[in-house]
Amino acid sequence: MKRVLSGMRPTGKLHLGHWVGALQNWIELQRKYESFFVIVDWHALTTDYEDPSRIRENIIEIAADWLAAGINPEKSTVFVQSLVKQHAELHLLLSMITPLGWLLRVPTYKEQMRQLSDRDLHTYGFLGYPVLQTADIIIYKAELVPVGEDQKYHIELAREIVRRFNHLYGEVFPEPKEILTPVPRILGTDGRKMSKSYGNAIFMDDPPEVLKKKIFPMMTDTRRKRKTDPGRPEDCPVWTLHKAFTPEEKRRELYQGCTTASIGCLDCKKVLVEELSTRFAPFREKKAKLMEKKDEIKGILMEGARKASQVAEQTLEEVREVMGIGIKI
Ligand code: TRP
Ligand code: SF4
Repeated sequence: MKRVLSGMRPTGKLHLGHWVGALQNWIELQRKYESFFVIVDWHALTTDYEDPSRIRENIIEIAADWLAAGINPEKSTVFVQSLVKQHAELHLLLSMITPLGWLLRVPTYKEQMRQLSDRDLHTYGFLGYPVLQTADIIIYKAELVPVGEDQKYHIELAREIVRRFNHLYGEVFPEPKEILTPVPRILGTDGRKMSKSYGNAIFMDDPPEVLKKKIFPMMTDTRRKRKTDPGRPEDCPVWTLHKAFTPEEKRRELYQGCTTASIGCLDCKKVLVEELSTRFAPFREKKAKLMEKKDEIKGILMEGARKASQVAEQTLEEVREVMGIGIKI
């Protein structure tokens, strides 16, 4: 059975963009493949090393989000990267064979540096980010990697590193392939891409009152200055959410109402709040329960690390052997 691996950095709780863009898909994949889902705290450290104070709490929060959303620890291996030390060992070994030029050419490298200009990212660790990511994937010989569009260069680089490794030492690793989910673009409350750092995110666990507070004042199609002005849903950020969460039949009614000005934007937003509150009610309840039993979450993560370590250690034994490292016993 092919293996799937994906990961998220523990940078905070998950919003609707994460659900539509990743989690929803992971939950499907875990039914068909042996799946590994990893919370990559070392990756978080590459950008947040000056203030790592929230990483630990974020790990628990993300794990709760995953589990409440339906990631099943009986089926999938759910764990924290830094608890499986072999990732670091493989990262080190891969760093020996990865040409600097490949890393300097990764588009996200310069892009991220520009975007996070308040931090000093001229570090060894940050340059090696995609090498660590490669280690995360190939240590389990995972062939399928569900990721967003922004990660496709990282997976491409992982393939290049694998080819180089296999060429030098023999066929140890399969080439990983990205699964790019065609995701509807979800916009945030200000009409920009939904992102925690923009402060425009709707979180998966936002309760109905918060949903109202965020959605009622949301930007809409600017043509609808008055309720009697017809609008175009295609140009409305609220509509991106309807497309992801409102059942088709109801959506058709809203479309009609918007384009003929027979409903106002507030009516349309009320439907969205209603849809989201109902859709995520079981999730909120499950997450709240889990957050009261953090030891249970930690137990699941420890068990995941134990399972992951077994597979990772097997791979490392092979790697040490072909690279001629250590002593033979
Ligand atoms: N770089 C990924 C991101 O920012 C996180 C990540 C780390 C990852 N290791 C991975 C994703 C391995 C997929 C596979 O989203
Ligand atoms: Fe957007 Fe709905 Fe208003 Fe149309 S009616 S502009 S889709 S919020």
